[in-house]
Amino acid sequence: MDLNNKRILLTGATGGIGQQAAQSLAEQGARLLLVARNQQKIEALIARLPNPDVHTTLSADLTTRAGRCALNQQVEHWQQQGKRLSVVINNAGSNQFQFLSQRSHDTLETELNLNLLTPILLSQMAMQWLERPGLILNVGSTFGAIGYPGYTSYCAAKAGLHRFSEALNRELDGAGINVLYLAPRATDTDLNSAAVQAMNKKLGNHSDSPQVVAQQLVEMLQHEQATRWLGWPEKLLVKINQWFPSLVSNAIRKHQSVIHDCLTQTPLGHHHDVKLNASLTSAEKHL
Ligand SMILES: NC(=O)c1ccc[n+]([C@@H]2O[C@H](COP(=O)([O-])OP(=O)(O)OC[C@H]3O[C@@H](n4cnc5c(N)ncnc54)[C@H](OP(=O)(O)O)[C@@H]3O)[C@@H](O)[C@H]2O)c1
Repeated sequence: MDLNNKRILLTGATGGIGQQAAQSLAEQGARLLLVARNQQKIEALIARLPNPDVHTTLSADLTTRAGRCALNQQVEHWQQQGKRLSVVINNAGSNQFQFLSQRSHDTLETELNLNLLTPILLSQMAMQWLERPGLILNVGSTFGAIGYPGYTSYCAAKAGLHRFSEALNRELDGAGINVLYLAPRATDTDLNSAAVQAMNKKLGNHSDSPQVVAQQLVEMLQHEQATRWLGWPEKLLVKINQWFPSLVSNAIRKHQSVIHDCLTQTPLGHHHDVKLNASLTSAEKHL
């Protein structure tokens, strides 16, 4: 698809990959609808983009009904003016690097909601929003194809997103909408905590810049390629894990002590759990 003058919805626009994707898409002449929760960050982003006047922002928590309703209203408002979306990119995502036994039910629900249920619901809504031909691009992960310690629920969510994208693409065959799945490997963004960065360094795992991922995302949309796995040797490991999972299990077993060391370095985890556990600890002190 030629992206010039196309209207594109991008979720997770203020994140490491989202900001670069917004920049690269705007450079291709796209008109963006940028969504994230933090309004200040989206406005700061839009001010840095080429042709800021043609882009629109929306602050919404997409894991909530209210957030998705606000997004629907914005898109319907455009439709009443004869403007239709050509591309929907489900990029918002989150994870926590922790043992499953340490995770709260709330954080597991949020992670599965944002990484799996939300893109499914937005893809369904996109069928009403998109002009034909239209594209849906779901951002997954290498971990959608390789189960990895510390990322159990994230792996489950991204694996689900991969199968969902494949199934919907087949369901919509001939209907004018292609559904694409992009699977980055580790990328230098705030998604990865200090413990994850330390683990990647110790294990020699490569990490891509967000610019590399954004460029791949743009190329995928231009070529309408159904699936793209990023990084070498990660894309080979994805294949090996499919055919010979015990080989990958053996390789991970050799790294187990490093992985467990890094996992135990993050007793408070990442994002919400930090606040939750901190407030629990201070509450316990008061008992
Ligand atoms: N970084 C990596 O190593 C890596 C590797 C493979 C795949 N990926 C995938 O790539 C995508 C982007 O990751 P990233 O590294 O750019 O992450 P990031 O820097 O943490 O950014 C996450 C984005 O999602 C938004 N977001 C989070 N919760 C939201 C919610 N409830 N409603 C709406 N927006 C929400 C955040 O904005 P607000 O907080 O303002 O809402 C932010 O814009 C994700 O799907 C991730 O799983 C990342």
